[in-house]
Amino acid sequence: MNASRPRIDTGRRHLLRTGAAAAVAGAWGGAGHGATKARPILVQFSHVVSADTAKGRAALHFKALAEERTGGRVRVEVYPDSTLYKDREELEALQMGAVQMLAPSLSKLSALGIGDFEVFDLPFLFRDQAAFRAVADGELGSRLLQRLSPLGLQGLAYWDNGFKVFTANRPLQAPGDVRGLRVRVQASRTLVEQMRVLGAQVSVSPLANVFESLRTGQLDGQENVPSNIHSQRLHEAQTHLSVTRHGYLAYAVLTHRRFWERLPDDIRAHLQSALRDATRFANQIAEADNQQALARIAASGRVTVYTPPPQQLRRWQEALAPVDAATRGWIDPQLVAAFRRAGGVVP
Ligand code: LMR
Repeated sequence: MNASRPRIDTGRRHLLRTGAAAAVAGAWGGAGHGATKARPILVQFSHVVSADTAKGRAALHFKALAEERTGGRVRVEVYPDSTLYKDREELEALQMGAVQMLAPSLSKLSALGIGDFEVFDLPFLFRDQAAFRAVADGELGSRLLQRLSPLGLQGLAYWDNGFKVFTANRPLQAPGDVRGLRVRVQASRTLVEQMRVLGAQVSVSPLANVFESLRTGQLDGQENVPSNIHSQRLHEAQTHLSVTRHGYLAYAVLTHRRFWERLPDDIRAHLQSALRDATRFANQIAEADNQQALARIAASGRVTVYTPPPQQLRRWQEALAPVDAATRGWIDPQLVAAFRRAGGVVP
């Protein structure tokens, strides 16, 4: 558990109090003593993106399946768009048992003290979505999820999103164009390093703050997947977007381990099957969701979209190559090598 106090802003304190009370009553009491129809087990699922992204839709799909398959013995409340907790708060809330499910991006898990999760943030790591899936669904992915267990968390699944692009308030064609810009990244030392290597001034902030920071000029640019850019309206505060596909965004679906273990066996089995199907759904829609968002961003006429030709992309790859070595202090170099082998050759 992070030593710092939970940073919960005033608007959310009420939710934490009422939400935690409801969850504990429903989940701990309910799971431990047999749920009844009158008092369903409450699963609060908090996330920070919009409900109409792949993650948002998959969370709702999980809710529908879980409630149907348990015959109403479980009630799932989904809180999108940081309405319950922002980035770091949500992990703290899960560890406290104040919320039962999350799907944070893998970049944010190193805040729990497992720097190796940042291996997913290395630039140009996965050849394509299939390469990411092979790693996530294989031995490498499952070994990393198991490391959450001593922290009181249970890693249930990986959900896909896709390749990140850059946006800024000036054209970003060559890697040198990032120099001097104030750029937002998620809370990952590897992402910070990536921006340092490019000569940017790095700012780590929760997704919920990014639009306002871009709009007011506190930030010049950011990186994200098109679906987050479109649904958070980040393109409305930017003039240029470059389809660099330089990094990958994906999620771990997490629960509180004790909550999960205390569920009645049949309920847990239903939730597992609901999650298997929701995972398949998330992974199926992620790529199309991003393509559609990119088309909408381009059609909005607000930003100029630039797709670097292969020769230009190689310059981005070369510029970001030093990041791997720079992460030796927090990512096991053998893990980096294993991921590089499994990720395939990026074209
Ligand atoms: C971000 O903070 O940019 C992403 O992690 C948000 C998300 O969950 O997709």
